Amino acid sequence: MALRVVQWATGGVGIAAIKGILEHPELELAGAWVHSAAKNGRDVGDIIGTGPLGVFATNSAADILALDADAVIYAPLLPDPDEVAALLRSGKNVVTPVGWLYPSAKQAAPLREAALAGGVTLHGTGIAPGGFSEKFPLLLSVLSTGVTFVRAEEFSDLRTYHAPDVLRHVMGFGDTPDKAMSGPMQKMLDGGFIQAVRMCTDKLGFRADPRVVTAQEVAVATAPIPSPIGDIAPGQVAARRFHWEAQVDGEPVVRITVNWLMGEENLDPAWTFGPEGQRYEMAVRGNPDFTVVVRGFQGEPGDEVGPGSIVGSADHGSIVDSADHGSIVGSAEPGVVGTAAHCVNSVPAVCAAPPGVATYLDLPFVAARAAPHLS
Ligand SMILES: NC(=O)c1ccc[n+]([C@@H]2O[C@H](COP(=O)([O-])OP(=O)(O)OC[C@H]3O[C@@H](n4cnc5c(N)ncnc54)[C@H](OP(=O)(O)O)[C@@H]3O)[C@@H](O)[C@H]2O)c1
Repeated sequence: MALRVVQWATGGVGIAAIKGILEHPELELAGAWVHSAAKNGRDVGDIIGTGPLGVFATNSAADILALDADAVIYAPLLPDPDEVAALLRSGKNVVTPVGWLYPSAKQAAPLREAALAGGVTLHGTGIAPGGFSEKFPLLLSVLSTGVTFVRAEEFSDLRTYHAPDVLRHVMGFGDTPDKAMSGPMQKMLDGGFIQAVRMCTDKLGFRADPRVVTAQEVAVATAPIPSPIGDIAPGQVAARRFHWEAQVDGEPVVRITVNWLMGEENLDPAWTFGPEGQRYEMAVRGNPDFTVVVRGFQGEPGDEVGPGSIVGSADHGSIVDSADHGSIVGSAEPGVVGTAAHCVNSVPAVCAAPPGVATYLDLPFVAARAAPHLS
């Protein structure tokens, strides 16, 4: 019997997750919650751009709570803990890229209680945080002993990120440095990345200072830089860097860094990706030291459609091709697809886990499944 899975929100991650569910031999699509009124009642196949699936989207949470389903992949724009608790209480396992990666006992408490009441499990995952920032460095660290330092770093060109509102109003691109540095981004990122750092320090056994040190830097344009928010004027923020660091006796032992650049030209300071280009990079110092570089999860400027692109509508984060919020076009950024895949592939293990909140440190080894035509 296949596990029945509901997709909660059909943005970039949600659409990729539905496609992943349809390809996974142990899963079947049971339903979809949508935020946008225009998608309400539509066949999910129509929303994701395939033929009809006979599964219809709803914007009623009550409909989803009443549905007979094993799991929900919860991927809305912003997490609502009460919503997640209700899903758990209704007896549905929840897998999500929007939080609860490695929550403290206090952060986890209300959701653990809901999960226990529903006899199900909550699991936070993703790509970064949720993959290259902690899970994969930890997995790779098994090839070393006497570890002294772990670094996880993202290098991305945000000219492929076609979400102008998010870039401008949330991420602070195009703002003055002061405004960007005091904006919401650091706090929004802290939640997930501090959990990622703590997962590394706890698992590796560093006697780290409980305070994770955070820092941010900006680079400004020195000439107009074309971007998804239009030209970024000289003096305005065109690149951002965020760091999270755990220390032992003042020395760094785990560091996660995110480098987000609007290209590599006309920046002050003159930041670049270096010869390696866009990538995720993981380094372990111990016996031996090594570095692993992963490519393929970042699109290149000029690619047809970037992550969560909005074409021709104010419908939040959906990829649509017409003013009536029509069918989905283009393909999502590989990083978005990877995030969705991590959720989808985790569902069987999460459904089989003991009730509560389960992190990577609790779940068994999880992998993808072969394509249907090869299995
Ligand atoms: N951990 C990671 O590595 C990672 C990676 C990628 C994304 N994420 C997170 O995953 C989530 C989904 O990302 P995405 O790329 O799919 O985003 P997205 O393309 O912007 O889609 C988000 C969806 O949320 C729904 N939505 C819009 N406004 C909403 C509102 N006010 N309240 C509730 N739902 C609303 C919409 O669903 P409908 O279209 O169905 O109406 C929208 O399509 C985000 O929170 C993102 O930060 C995490």
